[in-house]
Amino acid sequence: MEPFAWLHCPDPRLGEALAYLAERPGKQLRSRLTSLCAELVAGKPLASADAAGEAIELLHTYSLVHDDLPAMDDDDLRRGHPTLHRAFDEATAILAGDGLQAAAFQRLAEIEGLSAEQRLDIIHLLSVAVGFHGMVGGQALDLAAEHQSVPVDALREIHHLKTGALIAAAAEAGAICANASAAQRAALVVFAKAIGLAFQVTDDVLDVTGDSNSLGKTAGKDARAEKSTYVSTLGLAGAQEEADQLLNEALEALSIFGSDADPLRGLARQMVHRST
Ligand code: IPE
Ligand code: IPE
Ligand code: MG
Ligand code: MG
Ligand code: MG
Repeated sequence: MEPFAWLHCPDPRLGEALAYLAERPGKQLRSRLTSLCAELVAGKPLASADAAGEAIELLHTYSLVHDDLPAMDDDDLRRGHPTLHRAFDEATAILAGDGLQAAAFQRLAEIEGLSAEQRLDIIHLLSVAVGFHGMVGGQALDLAAEHQSVPVDALREIHHLKTGALIAAAAEAGAICANASAAQRAALVVFAKAIGLAFQVTDDVLDVTGDSNSLGKTAGKDARAEKSTYVSTLGLAGAQEEADQLLNEALEALSIFGSDADPLRGLARQMVHRST
């Protein structure tokens, strides 16, 4: 999957920045989720879901570029290399993020093999997932929660919004591409909400237990920035237990699919029990 292959920019510097991002695609877990959810329902791989997954990777990459900016988490390292604003400059990173977000919606509007209704459903879903009631709202709450201790319920909401919403939408987009029944779609959303939250809990854990080399991003950053995380709130063991409990909840939600969902179960386990 090459989510960036079709992107071009008339400005050479911004074009170079896009090439820089394209060379470092990350784990691409969200697009795999979209593709596997569609395959589970349709019984075969769907090119439309792969295309939706590519658009979702563009949204995710935009969120990382902006997350790393000095005004946000102020990070120097991403995917094993200098963050975009360090390799280029802040204006380029801001514009790359803005352009990626627009490009993602262009890609969604142009997906072949879907009805206009399906395309609109996916575009609506993803616009909510990354907007004020999703990723952007969660990022604002995350920044506001620095230097203080927030109750676990509030932290759950922050993590659900900043990270879980896009992951849940990635699964639901796959369900839409495959024309899932209401029951199938609902089960996949319950699954992905739990796995999305577990994913961010694990990210908090890895910030403490991992090292910058293997993570490809600066370890120990959350404590230094006095972020509110599952580790700062529940302790390391408490956070790990929470991630496992959420993984179990996610796996339970897949029971209606029987063994057909084994590939998705494998991805879910990988999202929680990972080292990078
Ligand atoms: C990192 O996401 C940011 C979070 C939402 C926790 P990933 O761990 O999926 O990052 P990449 O795409 O593999 O770099
Ligand atoms: C990022 O959360 C969530 C996003 C929406 C990008 P983090 O700030 O914990 O992600 P990392 O640790 O920098 O990848
Ligand atoms: Mg952040
Ligand atoms: Mg960050
Ligand atoms: Mg983190």
